[in-house]
Amino acid sequence: MVRVIILGQGYVGSVFATGIERIKKGDLGYYGIPLGNELPVKVEEIEVVGSYDVDKGKIGKNLHEVVGRYWEGEIPGSLESIVVRKGIHLGSLHNLPIEAEGLEEEMTLKEAVEKIVDEWKGLRPDVIVNLCTTEAFEPFNNKEELIDAIENDDRERLTATQVYAYAASLYAKEVGGAAFVNAIPTLIANDNAFLELAKESNLVIFGDDGATGATPLTADILAHLAQRNRYVKRVAQFNIGGNTDFLALTNKDRNRSKEHTKSSVVKDILGYNAPHYIKPTGYLELLGDRKFIAMHIEYVSFNGAIDELIINGRINDSPALAGLLVDLVRLGKMAVERGEWGTVYEVNTFYMKNPGPAEKGNIPRIIAYEKMRLWAGLKPRWL
Ligand SMILES: NC(=O)c1ccc[n+]([C@@H]2O[C@H](COP(=O)([O-])OP(=O)(O)OC[C@H]3O[C@@H](n4cnc5c(N)ncnc54)[C@H](O)[C@@H]3O)[C@@H](O)[C@H]2O)c1
Repeated sequence: MVRVIILGQGYVGSVFATGIERIKKGDLGYYGIPLGNELPVKVEEIEVVGSYDVDKGKIGKNLHEVVGRYWEGEIPGSLESIVVRKGIHLGSLHNLPIEAEGLEEEMTLKEAVEKIVDEWKGLRPDVIVNLCTTEAFEPFNNKEELIDAIENDDRERLTATQVYAYAASLYAKEVGGAAFVNAIPTLIANDNAFLELAKESNLVIFGDDGATGATPLTADILAHLAQRNRYVKRVAQFNIGGNTDFLALTNKDRNRSKEHTKSSVVKDILGYNAPHYIKPTGYLELLGDRKFIAMHIEYVSFNGAIDELIINGRINDSPALAGLLVDLVRLGKMAVERGEWGTVYEVNTFYMKNPGPAEKGNIPRIIAYEKMRLWAGLKPRWL
């Protein structure tokens, strides 16, 4: 069994929980899960054992009720037994039209961390998945500074994700190993403070920021052009969507976090920094979760010919990440069982926009896929 805790019971967390239960009931196949059911740990073994949020309208409700806000079809009754617990807020939902509350309103951050670690010791997750709203953040890169900020209750310096990742390291230390999957842009797998902590505590960290939508496609198209020695003059890639994540990204500081994880791809793959604009550009409610993506790449071919690629798409945002998470939680459990700690580049490089550790960059996803399969003990597919 793979016991999973969800931090941030929003669209992605709800599609993930629903999809897993529908697969178990035999209502659904494995499309959208990169490794399907090839791993020794089966999809049917995944069990959501806990969920946290800071939205007052979700705390105390059961998962069946919360998931019903995102999924119109029949929801398996098995989700009724999980109640959404109160998490640590630290302003994650600031400026959004959502009433929020966090444990830190009643206690210090250190006490809130202790409370959460105690709860986790009761719930016994193998993997903790972070799906909170995108945050504006400052990385630490220094373990002592991070610990000081928690000890000194420095609420200005810390984000919820950083505190959750710290709590995960304490939990892993107590139970002898666990995995933390950071699917949002806050740097965790790319922040040495957390990698140092992970080393001492048998924590496996996958991150940062799930690679869905247009970014991995852009990476593969750029690799295609690089292999043919075409010179890329400029790249424009933008997304407009109507879910709460896009609403949150209308805030400049949060959007900057996304920009960082998406933009590293151009230089990493081409070897030079072609002028580029890659980021979410707007919120349009009527698009809902099916975002509009557009890509425009202009490049120089033989004899100076100028070509252009123009790609448009409508992509369901949340199922794309939820499908990746079905693999990530199983790979997390496998890594813990192998006694790994720190971050695993072979996994991150396929599944993440900004694969940790920091000194490694993006490689074409078609190559990353083969590396990841080898790490998982599977045969390469095309090599
Ligand atoms: N394809 C994708 O959808 C995709 C891809 C990559 C990354 N992401 C990231 O995944 C995250 C989740 O996306 P979503 O579409 O589910 O967003 P969402 O807004 O539907 O859900 C986020 C949830 O997190 C909760 N939350 C916010 N702060 C919290 C905190 N401090 N503690 C606990 N819960 C908290 C919110 O109340 C909400 O329920 C976003 O940060 C997004 O950037 C999504």
